[in-house]
Amino acid sequence: MNPVLKRLTSDHKNVALLLQVMAEELNIFATSDRKPDFRLMREIVEYLQDFTQDVHHPQEDLLFELTLAHQETPAPVLTRLLKEHDELRDMNHAVRVEIDQIYNDAMVPRREIEQTLRRFIQMTRDHMSAEEEAAYPLAENLLDESEWQQVEAARKSRVDPLFGKVVEAEFSRIGDRLRERGLLPG
Ligand SMILES: [Fe+2]
Repeated sequence: MNPVLKRLTSDHKNVALLLQVMAEELNIFATSDRKPDFRLMREIVEYLQDFTQDVHHPQEDLLFELTLAHQETPAPVLTRLLKEHDELRDMNHAVRVEIDQIYNDAMVPRREIEQTLRRFIQMTRDHMSAEEEAAYPLAENLLDESEWQQVEAARKSRVDPLFGKVVEAEFSRIGDRLRERGLLPG
């Protein structure tokens, strides 16, 4: 696999892990009286908003646009995925607002939070699968070396604050949870 696609796929694995942690918290919410760990969820949503929107998506936007430029008939999946990046950004924002409301003790109906979060998890999962199954293979067939270099350069040289070498303080709760599960080195 092309190194750029490898890196994007590995971002997806990290995101999938975080969605899994989020889904587990929601299951606790649905089946017991214990409150979910909203601080943990807030960190997850913050990480997704911050790192994914800022580093991962811009790279994919360029990747899909370059792929579309090679096609006489644009593949609908590419235009759909580009549109979904905007939708996911809005959704991510909405989820964050809702979690912040709970955090600040606003009365948000339990059912409503649960539904919003589950929709967000499902949408993100479906989006990543479509990228890996349909969009990345198209790009892999069509892009030339100079285009791959452009996509590589679109990745800002930012350190990943969670899955990089050091877990930054603002994401310490997710770091602890992943370590408990043996998913990050202790
Ligand atoms: Fe992606």
